[in-house]
Amino acid sequence: MAVLQLPMITHPITLFFIIFFAFSALAKAERYSVLSYGAKPDGKTDSTKAFSAAWSRACASTKQATIYVPQGRFYLGQVRFQGPCKNHAILLRIDGTLVAPSDYRVLGNAKNWLIFEHVNGVTVSGGTLDGQGAGLWSCKNSGKSSCPRGAKSLEFSYSNNIAISGLTSLNSQLFHIVINGCQNVKMQGVKVSAAGNSPNTDGIHVQSSTGVTILSSRIGTGDDCVSIGPGTSNLWIEKVACGPGHGISIGSLGKESREAGVQNVTIKTTTFTGSTNGLRIKSWGRPSNGFARHILFQHAVMNNVRNPIVIDQNYCPGKKNCPGQDSGVKISDVIYQDIHGSSATEVAVKFDCSKKYPCTGIKLQDVKLTYKNQPAKASCSNTGGVASGLVQPTSCL
Ligand SMILES: *[C@@H]1O[C@H](CO)[C@@H](O)[C@H](O)[C@H]1NC(C)=O
Repeated sequence: MAVLQLPMITHPITLFFIIFFAFSALAKAERYSVLSYGAKPDGKTDSTKAFSAAWSRACASTKQATIYVPQGRFYLGQVRFQGPCKNHAILLRIDGTLVAPSDYRVLGNAKNWLIFEHVNGVTVSGGTLDGQGAGLWSCKNSGKSSCPRGAKSLEFSYSNNIAISGLTSLNSQLFHIVINGCQNVKMQGVKVSAAGNSPNTDGIHVQSSTGVTILSSRIGTGDDCVSIGPGTSNLWIEKVACGPGHGISIGSLGKESREAGVQNVTIKTTTFTGSTNGLRIKSWGRPSNGFARHILFQHAVMNNVRNPIVIDQNYCPGKKNCPGQDSGVKISDVIYQDIHGSSATEVAVKFDCSKKYPCTGIKLQDVKLTYKNQPAKASCSNTGGVASGLVQPTSCL
C-alpha cells in the first residue's frame, strides 16, 4: 500500500479534501428524466423527441449524467444516441418499457430502432425493449417478397467502454442486440425473448469488436442466440442459456473474399434446450481469407439439441455463387471440453470442413452425447485433431 505511506495523503486535512471532492463529484452527477423533456408513459404518445433531447443534454455535459426513464410504456420511433460526446460517463437507467411502432412499415427500412454511435462510457441498465416484431414476422413467414428487412432493436457501433445490464429485449423485428466495431463491452443479466419461428431475430450479434463479455444471460429466439461475425476477438461468453434458437454460432464467416478473422473466443458454462444447434462454426463454401482460431467451448449441457457440435464449411443458402467451391476460411485450434447431454438427431458431432483448407487442431475432451439414450454418432470430413478422456460418440478425428 505505497499510497498510504505518502505523508501528504494521510494528513487529516488532505483526507478531508479528498473525501469532500469525491462526494461533491457524485452530487454533481446530473439527472435528466425523459419526463422533463415531454416523454409520456402512456404507450402511445411519441416520445422520440424527448429521448433525443435528454440525450443531447447528457452528451454535451462534461459531468457524469443519468438519463432516467421511469416506469410506464414509452412509444419511440428511431432514436440515434449519437456521439462523440463530451461526456464519458452516461448512464441510461430504465425502469419502464420502450415500445417500437407495431406497424413495421414505420421502421422496416430504417436498419435500426435504437442506435448508439461513436460513444465512449455508456451504461444501459434495466428496462425492457419491446420491438413489436410479430407483424413483420408474419409478413416474412407468409412468403411475401415485399416485406421490408426490419430494424434491429438496439445497436452499439464504433463505441468503447459500454455496459448493458439487466436489460430485457422482446420481439425485435430483426436482430435484438448488435455490437459492431466496439471495444470493451460488458453485458450481464440480459434477457432476450422472441418466438422460435421468428425470422432473423438473432439474440446478440457481435462483429468487428474486441473485448466483449456476455455473462449470465438467457436467450430464446427464432435465429442464433449469439452470432459471432468477422473481426471478433477476445470474446468471453459465460453462463448463457439458449433455446429456442439456432444456438451459439461463430459465423457465417467467409461471405466476403477479404474479411477479418475471429480469434480468442471462450464460450463456457452454457445450456442449450431444444435448439437447432448447440456450438456451431459455419462458413460459406467459397474463397475467402477469413479464419477462426483459438476457440474454447467448455462445460456445455445439451437438452434435445438437433446438432450439438457442428462445423459446417459448406454453407451456401440458395446455392448461389458457391456450388463446387471450397471454403477459404481456415479453422484451427478449437477445443470442446466437457460437453454432455442429449441430441435430437443421430449425428451429434459433425465436422464438415473445407477440402482445400481442412480444420486443424480440433480437440475433443470429455464429450458425452446421447441420442435416444444410446451413444450418438459422429461424422468428420477434412478434419484433423485429437480426442482425449471419455469421448462418446466415438471420435472420428
Ligand atoms: C483472450 O481474451 C481474453 C478476454 O476474453 C483476454 O483476457 C485475453 O488476454 C486474450 N488473450 C490474448 C492472447 O489476447
